[in-house]
Amino acid sequence: MELVSASLLLLLCLCCILLALAWKSQNQQGQLPPGPTPLPLLGNFLQLDRTNVIRSLEKDTYGPVFTVNLGSRRVVVLCGYQAVKEALVDQAEEFSGRGDIPAFSKDFNGHGVVFANGERWRQLRRFSLTTLRNFGMGKRSIEERIQEEAQCLVEEFQKTQGAPFDPIFNLSRAVSNIICSIVFGNRFDYEDEKFIALNKLIFKRFRFAGLTSAQLYNTFPGILEKIPGPHQTGSKCSQEIISFILERIKLQQATLDLNAPQNFIDCFLVKMEQEKQNPATEFSLENLVMATFNLFFAGTETISTTLRYGFLILLKYPQVQGKEIDVVIGRDRAPTAEDRGRMPYTDATLHEIQRFSDILPMSLPHTVTRDTRFRGYLIPQGTYVYPLLSTVHFDPEEHKDPETFAPERFLNENGSFRKQNAFLPFSAGKRVCLGEGLARMELFLFFTTILQHFTLSSPVDPQQLSLAPEVSNLGKVPPRYQLCLRQR
Ligand code: HEM
Repeated sequence: MELVSASLLLLLCLCCILLALAWKSQNQQGQLPPGPTPLPLLGNFLQLDRTNVIRSLEKDTYGPVFTVNLGSRRVVVLCGYQAVKEALVDQAEEFSGRGDIPAFSKDFNGHGVVFANGERWRQLRRFSLTTLRNFGMGKRSIEERIQEEAQCLVEEFQKTQGAPFDPIFNLSRAVSNIICSIVFGNRFDYEDEKFIALNKLIFKRFRFAGLTSAQLYNTFPGILEKIPGPHQTGSKCSQEIISFILERIKLQQATLDLNAPQNFIDCFLVKMEQEKQNPATEFSLENLVMATFNLFFAGTETISTTLRYGFLILLKYPQVQGKEIDVVIGRDRAPTAEDRGRMPYTDATLHEIQRFSDILPMSLPHTVTRDTRFRGYLIPQGTYVYPLLSTVHFDPEEHKDPETFAPERFLNENGSFRKQNAFLPFSAGKRVCLGEGLARMELFLFFTTILQHFTLSSPVDPQQLSLAPEVSNLGKVPPRYQLCLRQR
C-alpha cells in the first residue's frame, strides 16, 4: 500500500514538473516575436520556398522581427537595417552566440572559430586576428603579396587572347593563393593539380551548402543524417579539404622552428607547445585543423564570388569600368591600397558591388547567449537568430530603388565617397567578419589591376545577361558566364 502511495506521489510530482516546464516553455514562447503557426515536427517548412529561403523569410507579414520554426528549431528572423543593428550592435554581447548549419557545420563539431562558442570562440578568434595581423593583414607586406598575385592573374588572363572563357577558377586560384600564403606560408602554381582540385572542392562545398538538399538536411538533420543522398556530398568535400590540411600540418610539424614561426599554422603549433601542460587548452590539433579550414574556406570563396559577381555586373553595365584608373594610377605602376582614397567612384562601385551581390544574405546563424529582452519580446537563451543581411542591403527605407545597381548611391553631390549605414556585407557586432580588412584590400587591388590591363566584354548581348543568382540560400552564387578580355 505504501509502495502504491509513493508511486502515485512520484507520478504526481513528475506531472507537476512536466506541467511547469510546459507552462514555462509556453510562457516564453508567448513572449517570442509573432510568426506563422508551426505544424508538429515540420514547423513552417511547408511555407518556405526551398529554392530561395531568403525570399520566403523576407515576406513581412509579421513585421521586421518574427519567429519561424524550421523543423523543430525556433528561429527569430531580423529584417531591415534598424532591427539588425539594434540586435548585433546595440545588444552585441547577447546576440554573439553562434548557431550551427547542420549541412555545413557538422564536420566542425564546434571546433575552430566560425562554429565555436564561449571561451573556445573567444580565445581562437583573438588568436586568429592577432596572427593574421602579424602576418600582414592590413599591412604593407600583404599588400605586396596581393599586388604580385594580381600580376600573375593578369598574365594568366593574357593567355586567353580575347577568346571567351569562364573566369571562375582563375579568380578563385588567385584569391586562394593570398590566404594560402598567410596560412601555409606559400602560394601554389595555377597548374598544380592538388591546388586545382582543392579549389574545385571549395567551390563545390559553398554551392552545396545552398542547395535544396542542404536546406532539407538543415531542417531535419536527425533523419537525413541516416539516409544516403546528395545532401551528404558537401560533407565528403569537407573531409577531403580536412585531409589536405592535416597533411600540411604534419609537414610543417616536421620542420617547425619554435623560435621562428613562418605562418598561421606554425604560430598555432608554437601555442600548442606552450600550452601542452594545460588540460583545458583550446590549442588542440582539432581546433588547429578547423580554424585553418575556416580561414582557408572563408578567405577563398567569399572574395572570389564577389569578384566573379562584380565582373558580371560590369559586363552588364560597361559604362562603370575603370573610370578613374587612367587618371589616378596610369599604366606604369601597380595599384596600391592608398589609391583608394583618391578614387571615390571606384570605391563607390566596389561598395555597390558588395551591396548588390549580397553574397551571404542571411549572414551566418547567431544565437542569444542569455535570455534576452528585445523590442519588448523575451528571446530565451540559445534561440537561433537569423540577421537577414539581404534585407539590410535591399532595405527600401535606407536605399532608393534598392534593386537598381547604382554606384552613385555611395557618392555625395561633389563626387566624394559617402558612407551608408545599411551596408553590412561583413555583418556587424562581436561576430563581424574576421577577414574584413584583408577582403577589402584584395577586392580593391584585384579589381583595379584587372581593369587597368583589360577592357571587359561579353560574347552575348549585355541586355540578355542575367544578374539573378544561380543559388540563393546560405550563399548567393552568381550564374556562370563567359568573359572576353581585350588588352588596353
Ligand atoms: C568579400 C569577402 C567576405 C565577406 C563578404 C565575408 C562575410 C562574412 C560574414 C557575413 C560573416 C558572418 C558574421 C556574423 O556571424 O555575423 C563572416 C564571418 C567570418 N569570416 Fe568573413 N567574409 C569575407 C572574407 C573573409 C576572409 C578573407 C576571411 C579570412 C581571412 C574571413 C573569415 C571569417 C571568419 C573566421 C568568420 C567567423 C567569425 C566569428 O564567428 O567570430 N572572411 N564573414
